[in-house]
Amino acid sequence: MHQSLIMDDKTRSIISLILFLLLTIPARAQRTTTETPTTKFIFRGFNGSESDIRTQGAAMIKPDGLLRLTDRNQNVVGTAFYNKPVRLLDTNNTSSTNNTVRSFSTSFVFVIIPSSSSNGGFGFTFALSPTPYRPGADPEQFLGLLNKDNDGNSTNHVFAVEFDTVQGFKDGADSSGNHIGLNFNSLKSAYQEPVVYYDNDGPNRKEDFRLQSGEPIRAHLDYDGPTQTLNFTVYPAKSRSRPIRPLISQLPVPNLSQIVQEEMYVGFTAATGRESSAHYVMGWSFSSGGDRPIADTLELSELPPAPPNKAKKGGYNSQVIALIVALSGVTVILLALLFFFSMYKKRLQQGEILEDWEINHPHRLRYKDLFAATDGFSEDRIIGTGGFGTVFRGNIASSPSNQIAVKKITPNSMQGVREFIAEIESLGRLRHKNLVNLQGWCKHKNDLLLIYDYIPNGSLDSLLYSVPRRSGAVLSWNVRFQIAKGIASGLLYLHEEWEQIVIHRDVKPSNVLIESDMNPRLGDFGLARLYERGSQSNTTVVVGTIGYMAPELARNGKSSSASDVFAFGVLLLEIVSGRRPTDSGTFFLADWVMELHASNEIIRAVDPRLGSGYDEREAKLALGMGLLCCHQRPASRPSMRMVLRYMNGDEDVPQIDDNWGYSDSSSRSEIGSKFEGYVSSDRASGSVASFSVTRISSSSVMSGR
Ligand SMILES: *[C@@H]1O[C@H](CO)[C@@H](O)[C@H](O)[C@H]1NC(C)=O
Ligand SMILES: *[C@@H]1O[C@H](CO)[C@@H](O)[C@H](O)[C@H]1NC(C)=O
Ligand SMILES: *[C@@H]1O[C@H](CO)[C@@H](O)[C@H](O)[C@H]1NC(C)=O
Ligand SMILES: *[C@@H]1O[C@H](CO)[C@@H](O)[C@H](O)[C@H]1NC(C)=O
Ligand SMILES: *[C@@H]1O[C@H](CO)[C@@H](O)[C@H](O)[C@H]1NC(C)=O
Ligand SMILES: *[C@@H]1O[C@H](CO)[C@@H](O)[C@H](O)[C@H]1NC(C)=O
Ligand SMILES: *[C@@H]1O[C@H](CO)[C@@H](O)[C@H](O)[C@H]1NC(C)=O
Repeated sequence: MHQSLIMDDKTRSIISLILFLLLTIPARAQRTTTETPTTKFIFRGFNGSESDIRTQGAAMIKPDGLLRLTDRNQNVVGTAFYNKPVRLLDTNNTSSTNNTVRSFSTSFVFVIIPSSSSNGGFGFTFALSPTPYRPGADPEQFLGLLNKDNDGNSTNHVFAVEFDTVQGFKDGADSSGNHIGLNFNSLKSAYQEPVVYYDNDGPNRKEDFRLQSGEPIRAHLDYDGPTQTLNFTVYPAKSRSRPIRPLISQLPVPNLSQIVQEEMYVGFTAATGRESSAHYVMGWSFSSGGDRPIADTLELSELPPAPPNKAKKGGYNSQVIALIVALSGVTVILLALLFFFSMYKKRLQQGEILEDWEINHPHRLRYKDLFAATDGFSEDRIIGTGGFGTVFRGNIASSPSNQIAVKKITPNSMQGVREFIAEIESLGRLRHKNLVNLQGWCKHKNDLLLIYDYIPNGSLDSLLYSVPRRSGAVLSWNVRFQIAKGIASGLLYLHEEWEQIVIHRDVKPSNVLIESDMNPRLGDFGLARLYERGSQSNTTVVVGTIGYMAPELARNGKSSSASDVFAFGVLLLEIVSGRRPTDSGTFFLADWVMELHASNEIIRAVDPRLGSGYDEREAKLALGMGLLCCHQRPASRPSMRMVLRYMNGDEDVPQIDDNWGYSDSSSRSEIGSKFEGYVSSDRASGSVASFSVTRISSSSVMSGR
C-alpha cells in the first residue's frame, strides 16, 4: 500500500514532467514563431567586432577601432556588412505579395579624407543588400555596390543611400558632387539632395558643408514601415546638436517593398576611382522591428578618435639626417597645403570657386562685386519681394545707368540650374524696349543671382493698386492703353520675333515695370522654368500665378505661347477695369466682364475711377480683346501678332457671341469648377497678392477632378 503510494508519487511526477514538457515545448515553439525578431546593435568603434562585421576588399577594422572602408589607393572597392541578416519584411503569409517593410532606424558617424586638398574621389553608401558582400561590384561611380552590367536591374534587390563626392563624372546621371542620393537597384539616384542641414536657429535656414571635409559627419536614416516614408539627416558631428528638421522628411518610398527581401544584410560599400579618398566609419547603431525603432545615439566622446586629416605621407629614410630633411619637407608641404586649403576655403566662402561649366559664360558676374554694389545685400536696398525672390537695388560702375536690380533666388534644388543658366545665357542676348534687360547672373552657394536693368518707377501693380498712389492720380486712359500695347509688343518679341520662342510663363502686373516716361517693360521672363526644371520628373509642376493661369495648364501642365496670351488677356481686363482677376474665390474678372458683355453693358467694366476720362471705342476694343485672349480653348486665342494688329486698329476685333469660349466644353459650370481647383489652393495659402508660385502635381489635379 505504502509502496504503491510511493510508486504513485513517482509516476505522478513523471506524468507531470511529461505533461510539463508537452505543454511548454509547443508553447515555446509557438512563441518563437509569432514573435517578430528584432535586430538592435551599436558599435562604438569596432574594436573586437571582427566577427560581427564582414569586411571585403579594401575594407578593414583598424587597430585603433576605426572601420576603414577604403584607403586612398586608386580604383579600390571596400564593403563592410553586419554579419547577421536582418529581418526586414513581415511575411506571416508567404503566398501574399502584399508585404510591409518593417520600420528601421540607423545612425552612423563617418569621415571622408580626400587624397589631396583638392577633390578626392567617389564615395560610399549605406546599403541594404541580399548578401553580406557585393559580388562583382565595381569601383568609381559604381561605389562598390553594383557594376555596369547589373546597374538598374530589378533582380538586384539593393537599396542604398549614396554619399557622393565627385561631380560631373557620371554621364549626367548625378551631375553635382557633394550630394546624397537614394538609389533603388541602380546607381542612378531616384532622389537626390545637396549636402545641407537645417539650422535649428531658423526653421528654413540651410547650412551647407562638404562631405570630404575630413571632419566627422553624422547621418541618421529612419524608415517608417506603416507609412512607407523615410527621414534622412546629415550634419557635421562636432559641436552641433541634431537638426530638428530632417533634410529629407517623410519622403514616400513605396518601391522599397519591391526591393527588400525577407532578410537583408545592412552595411556600407565604398569605392575610389582615378581620384580617391579614404572612407571611415567611426561608429554605427541600428535598430529594426517594433513600433518605432530608434537607433541608439552615438556620443562622439565614446567613439575612437577620428582619423588624422592629412595628406599621404611620403616614405621616410631611416637615417637621421634624411629623416629630418623628410620631416621638414613634409612640414613645408603641409604648411603649403594648409595655406592653399585656407585660401580655397576662403574663396569657397565667397562662392568664387567655379565649377567647370561656369567658367566660359560672358554674362557671369562676380559675387564680390554684387555684394559691394548692394552694401552686402542690406535690407535698405530691398526694392521688392516676389514669388521668385528678393530684389535689391545696386550701384555698379560697369552698368550704363550705374544702377542695377539684383534678384536673389533660392531655388528648391540646384538641380537643373546648369541648364537654366544655359538658357539665361541666351536670354541675356534678348534686347527690346519693352523687356527688362537681363545683364547677367551669378551663382553663390544655394543662391542664384540675376542682374537686371534698374527701372525706377516701380511696377504696374503698384501703379494700379497702391493707395495712395505714388503719383497721387489715377493712371489715365491713354497711359493704360500705351502700357497695354507695350506689353503686347514685348510679348510678341518673345513669342515670334526673336531667334527662338520664349514663353514668359508668368505675365502679371507685378512683372511689368514702368519707366519714368510710362513705357512698360516686361520682366522675369522664363524664370518660372527654373521651378519647373527643379522638380521631380514624376510630377507635373505647374508654375504661374493664380488668376492668370490658362485652364489647360491644369490638364497638361504645358506652358505655351497661348497660355501667355491667356495671362495677357487677364492683364488687359485688369488694366481697363482696375480690378484684380479674382478675389477670395467668388469673383472672376473674365466671367464678370463676359456677363456684362452678354447684357450689352461691357462699358461698365471700365475702372470707375476714370470717370468719363476714357476713349469708349478703345475701351470696348481692349475689353473685347481681353475676352478673346481668355478663351478657354488655346487654339481659339489670337496670337500676339494679331493682338497688336487689333490694338493698332489695323484689323477689327471679331464679334464675341454670348456663349463665347464656352460653346466647346460640355458646360459652363464644369469650367467654373476647374477654376475652383486653383482658387481653393490659393485660399489655403491665405493671400491672393503674394502667392505667386503654384505647384500642382499631376496626382492632385487628377484627384481634384
Ligand atoms: C500578419 O501579422 C500581422 C502583425 O504581426 C497581423 O496583424 C496580421 O493579422 C497577420 N496576418 C495573417 C494573415 O496572419
Ligand atoms: C495569404 O494570402 C493569400 C493571397 O493574398 C490569400 O489567398 C490567403 O488566404 C492568405 N492566407 C492566410 C492564411 O491568410
Ligand atoms: C495590401 O495592403 C494594403 C495596405 O496595407 C491593404 O489596404 C490591402 O487590403 C492589402 N491587400 C491584400 C490583398 O491583402
Ligand atoms: C537582370 O539580371 C538577371 C539575373 O542576373 C538576368 O537574367 C537578366 O538578364 C538581367 N536583366 C537585364 C535587363 O540585364
Ligand atoms: C520624420 O520627420 C518628421 C518631422 O519632419 C517627424 O514628424 C516624423 O515622426 C519622422 N519620422 C520618423 C520615422 O522618424
Ligand atoms: C518604382 O516602382 C515602379 C513600379 O514598380 C517602377 O515603375 C519605378 O521605375 C520604380 N522606381 C524606381 C526608382 O525604382
Ligand atoms: C582598441 O584596441 C587597441 C588595442 O587592441 C587599443 O589600443 C585601443 O585603444 C582600443 N580602442 C578603443 C576605442 O577601445
